[in-house]
Amino acid sequence: MSQKKILVTGAAGFIAFHLVKSLMELNHKVVGIDNINNYYDTKLKYDRLNEVGIEKTKIKWHQEVSSIVYPNFSFVKMNLEDSNELIKLCEKEQFDYIVHLAAQAGVRYSIENPSVYIQSNLVGFGNVLEVSRIFKIKHLIYASSSSVYGMNKKIPFSIIDNVDYPISLYAATKKANELMAHTYSHLYQIPSTGLRFFTVYGPWGRPDMAYFNFSENIFKNKEILVYNNGKMKRDFTFISDIIEGILEVINTIPNYHEIQNHGVSSSLAPFRILNLGNNKPVGLLDFINALEKALGKNAIIKFAEVQKGDVLETWADLSLTQKEINYNPRVEINQGLVFFANWFKTYYKDEIEK
Ligand SMILES: NC(=O)c1ccc[n+]([C@@H]2O[C@H](COP(=O)([O-])OP(=O)(O)OC[C@H]3O[C@@H](n4cnc5c(N)ncnc54)[C@H](O)[C@@H]3O)[C@@H](O)[C@H]2O)c1
Repeated sequence: MSQKKILVTGAAGFIAFHLVKSLMELNHKVVGIDNINNYYDTKLKYDRLNEVGIEKTKIKWHQEVSSIVYPNFSFVKMNLEDSNELIKLCEKEQFDYIVHLAAQAGVRYSIENPSVYIQSNLVGFGNVLEVSRIFKIKHLIYASSSSVYGMNKKIPFSIIDNVDYPISLYAATKKANELMAHTYSHLYQIPSTGLRFFTVYGPWGRPDMAYFNFSENIFKNKEILVYNNGKMKRDFTFISDIIEGILEVINTIPNYHEIQNHGVSSSLAPFRILNLGNNKPVGLLDFINALEKALGKNAIIKFAEVQKGDVLETWADLSLTQKEINYNPRVEINQGLVFFANWFKTYYKDEIEK
């Protein structure tokens, strides 16, 4: 890969942090941005940044901090909603590529806090599109989500399936991002790829996600709440498979080709959407069993009703993804959970031993 200059948004977050590490190993030049919000424990976000050489004491709003580990990485704390700061940074850095992973994530939180999603995921995304236009970005890659499939009954989920009925505002903002990106690809010839991630897990993961919260409760001898009596399936995808997928995507810029949907030609823009999943859904109870084994401790299970906004089953159809890029998820759930559990037990060693 020739050296690229890349803006990575959400760099203190789970997926972007892993991506930055991989991009550094490949010798690219990267600037990461993040507002380090407190949706979940900010210590974890600062510790991730520390791993890539960004010291907490040096971080100040709108000031670029250089990594002490990677000469090609720097970080700026900023809000996506702040279009002036974003434009200033892009003007200074002249990026070739943007990988946009910052967002307000989480389905359940969107039920109580809709406005944060409007700001980060719609206003913030609009600003990312604008800098892509102004600075003629060669390829914009952005995170969508499997949650756009809502209550779709046809499985596995394919990108040609209709996704007009989101069941959470989070999902609606992700679907809106895809539509907004298409408009920019069409009007301003900005090549863009939207990635529908399917339940990403692994070391340095997100504490708001079930596997993380289950692990905390298992060690605290607290009950874990299993919704819909465990009758749920998720296409869990290990972080290294997702990162390999993103790296492949960066290198394959979509060109002008006819996008066929339901046999109807609907677009000629340099635009595409891809599923990045595992194509092997796992039942929630089997998942918990594998997690107990990986952590070496049993859970106390409490069954509960299904939660509003929750999708019952996710399963990625990868056939179109595999036509476009070289993507073959390799990490099996048992193995991935061992990687996660080993990290979790080390990171939370002091709390676990109390
Ligand atoms: N992890 C998954 O399973 C999953 C599944 C589907 C989609 N996604 C999407 O992938 C992307 C990355 O997810 P993640 O799991 O790493 O989440 P994350 O919450 O760990 O990372 C997102 C980062 O974005 C930052 N951020 C949020 N709003 C911001 C704003 N307005 N300005 C600047 N920074 C802001 C947050 O501080 C956070 O560090 C997100 O877009 C998410 O919606 C993730």
